[in-house]
Amino acid sequence: LLTWSSLVFGHQLLLLLLSIGVGVKTLGFHNPHHLKYLTLWWTASRIIQNMDPTSEPCNDFYQYACGGWLNRHVIPESSSRYSIFDKLRDDLEIILKGEEQKGLAVPAATFSKFLLRSNILGSKVPPSSYSYALRSFPALTFYEFKFLEPYWVMEEKLSMMNSQFNKRLLIDMFVWNDDRDSRSHIIYVSTTPGPSAQLGVREAYLQFMISIAKMIRADLNFTKDDEFVENEMLLVMKFETEIANVSNNIKAWETKQLLSSNSNVLSITPYQVSTPFSQNFNWTVFIQIVMSSVNINILENEEVVVYGVPYLQNLQEIISKYPARTIQNYLVWRLVQDQISNLSHRFKEARVSYRKALYGTSLEDVQWRECVRYVNNNMESAVGALYVKQSFAGESKRMVSDLIQKVREVFIETLNELQWMDELSKKRAQEKATAIREQIGYPDYILEEQNKKLDDEYYQLNFKEDMFFENTLENLKSNAQKSLKKLREKVDQDVWIIGAAVVNAFYSPNRNQIVFPAGILQPPFFSKQQLQALNFGGIGMVIGHEITHGFDDNGRNFDKDGNMLDWWSNFSSQHFKEQTKCMVYQYSNYSWDLAGGQHVSGLGTLGENIADNGGIRQAYKAYIKWVEQEGQEPRLPGLNLTHEQLFFINFAQVWCGSYRPEYASQSIKTDVHSPLKYRVMGSLQNFEAFSEAFHCHTGTVMHPEEKCRVW
Ligand SMILES: *[C@@H]1O[C@H](CO)[C@@H](O)[C@H](O)[C@H]1NC(C)=O
Ligand SMILES: *[C@@H]1O[C@H](CO)[C@@H](O)[C@H](O)[C@H]1NC(C)=O
Ligand SMILES: *[C@@H]1O[C@H](CO)[C@@H](O)[C@H](O)[C@H]1NC(C)=O
Ligand SMILES: *[C@@H]1O[C@H](CO)[C@@H](O)[C@H](O)[C@H]1NC(C)=O
Ligand SMILES: *[C@@H]1O[C@H](CO)[C@@H](O)[C@H](O)[C@H]1NC(C)=O
Ligand SMILES: *[C@@H]1O[C@H](CO)[C@@H](O)[C@H](O)[C@H]1NC(C)=O
Ligand SMILES: *[C@@H]1O[C@H](CO)[C@@H](O)[C@H](O)[C@H]1NC(C)=O
Ligand SMILES: [Zn+2]
Repeated sequence: LLTWSSLVFGHQLLLLLLSIGVGVKTLGFHNPHHLKYLTLWWTASRIIQNMDPTSEPCNDFYQYACGGWLNRHVIPESSSRYSIFDKLRDDLEIILKGEEQKGLAVPAATFSKFLLRSNILGSKVPPSSYSYALRSFPALTFYEFKFLEPYWVMEEKLSMMNSQFNKRLLIDMFVWNDDRDSRSHIIYVSTTPGPSAQLGVREAYLQFMISIAKMIRADLNFTKDDEFVENEMLLVMKFETEIANVSNNIKAWETKQLLSSNSNVLSITPYQVSTPFSQNFNWTVFIQIVMSSVNINILENEEVVVYGVPYLQNLQEIISKYPARTIQNYLVWRLVQDQISNLSHRFKEARVSYRKALYGTSLEDVQWRECVRYVNNNMESAVGALYVKQSFAGESKRMVSDLIQKVREVFIETLNELQWMDELSKKRAQEKATAIREQIGYPDYILEEQNKKLDDEYYQLNFKEDMFFENTLENLKSNAQKSLKKLREKVDQDVWIIGAAVVNAFYSPNRNQIVFPAGILQPPFFSKQQLQALNFGGIGMVIGHEITHGFDDNGRNFDKDGNMLDWWSNFSSQHFKEQTKCMVYQYSNYSWDLAGGQHVSGLGTLGENIADNGGIRQAYKAYIKWVEQEGQEPRLPGLNLTHEQLFFINFAQVWCGSYRPEYASQSIKTDVHSPLKYRVMGSLQNFEAFSEAFHCHTGTVMHPEEKCRVW
């Protein structure tokens, strides 16, 4: 295909012209034709630099598309993974940092500035401030507990954690859209995912726990008793390990099985009787205390959805083996651990070795990044407004909406190709795809000067400019109560589930809705100026991915209105499971060198793999249709690549990236996405159009005889 010499030539040419191009722009040429022309060169340069054209695309397409990028990038000391995708996130944080410097008259923006600035000042906060705040934790009992123990009531402690600190430990109790009726809310009780990641790094973890406990005790002037602290923290770790073991043994598929049966909706009273986790634990009391924090009265016949019953059965057994003191210390530890980043530098230093063992990183992120991330996560509308004003081109909304329409049409047309589905199920799938609602960019109200809605989101927050740590506690409580309060409210279908300044995309089964925040609507995913081949391979693939989530092993259990309802015929349902089995085996066969040869969990990543495979297929077909209607685009200058090839290369380049081995070993156990490399290989190996575009012979790595396909 491409020879090295022709590419070297192309590469140099590109750099040369690119620098001329920049000069032209600064001289003030604003002709849109020139802009488009410059974009072609700029894009060609980006694509060629990321590639390794000396490698054989049919053998290792990931290396071919990403080799150049991988060669030229070193993972930053503070990162556990570094990819084109991650770099977009880093760059977005730089934009947000710049926004903080500017003033804005919107009160909500002032709030977010407060939070940001108070954090930046974090290191100057007098030490007394945080130890005072630590004292205000419900019970900081890394000390002798025997006097309090008889009066220790588990229901009270867990509900305090839940409602005041938004920390749901041992029992996950929360308010969410009712799976059976997406218009209303209901209480859920579920397993808390245990911190299984720690299992591999026990020694570093234990040392981390012990140092923090000692530091806090010293700050609070407790008696020094190292042996007691060491023994106690060892017990806490054992307790946590046992909990993690049982919560992680409930495999994704088991939870999903529960999910698809309706037998698990109970009112509190029968639940009290039927679950083994009811000795010494009164569910009514627990739920009542949590909900009383938002003045909601709960009676014993309140309906509660329970997922993960086997976990609750095991929980009883584990709890009975440990004294109340250890459980209490466990609760406080988990709370303190989350807050380490918000405390003085010496606390962060205590976790350096632990982080090294867990993520392979040797440096913390610079503080301003943590600040920006925190404020963006917690005040997403205010920050979103700043971001959109600065960096989002208004007409993108319409163009993306148009792309969504095209990909959706292809999803529906493609149903006809599927032999494993009968007509009735196809009709239902079509109805569901048609009914998917979309949110693009940002909610309009955040940009309106006169709209109080934005300010109202924050009016109850009581932030103080020089009290960062206290502000984070205030924020935890406010977040917990915001979601608990919804129990008696109708679901607001128009509310945005995510901020605008986010490089990601979403599908919500309860809403049957796809969301593309402004943050992802940028190159390489999307640009008004870039070739449509690249837009379809980028954002087009993302759109297809999110739509397909509505039909993956989880999404398929919900109907077009977001209600959990089995709309499948027996025939189609059975064949769906067979089709997915192929993908489970395919991905399970990937053995990842970076993770010491561990195999990808085909079952754990199934939903994402189904979405990746559907997404690339739909986007490709939609692009081919676009060309039939609109005609061929110009070629990228200096690159001897067809548009079909560019489509696949841009798709792959979104996922160029590398992992630290420590993080690879952790993420292969916990990430529901396949490793970046296998996201690319897996979906392209299954797609004939890819092999055609690159003339791969049957039997090559990228064109295996056996192919898996669900959608
Ligand atoms: C471009 O690629 C085609 C086929 O892939 C090849 O025949 C042609 O020689 C290439 N042109 C150059 C200038 O490398
Ligand atoms: C601990 O003791 C020191 C010195 O006596 C005192 O300055 C400090 O305020 C005390 N800290 C707390 C949290 O009581
Ligand atoms: C984890 O659970 C399994 C059974 O579910 C049990 O056999 C094993 O001993 C447990 N391991 C630990 C460390 O508790
Ligand atoms: C749980 O607490 C409620 C309210 O205090 C009480 O009415 C009920 O009898 C208790 N249930 C059990 C099983 O102890
Ligand atoms: C501060 O604490 C909150 C709540 O535990 C946590 O989510 C957040 O990540 C911390 N902030 C920073 C900057 O680490
Ligand atoms: C579908 O399968 C279930 C159980 O597998 C069975 O009870 C039911 O009768 C079947 N329905 C039809 C229409 O075949
Ligand atoms: C690899 O795939 C084959 C079938 O294609 C399957 O039998 C085997 O179990 C898979 N290997 C793993 C580790 O899942
Ligand atoms: Zn996904």
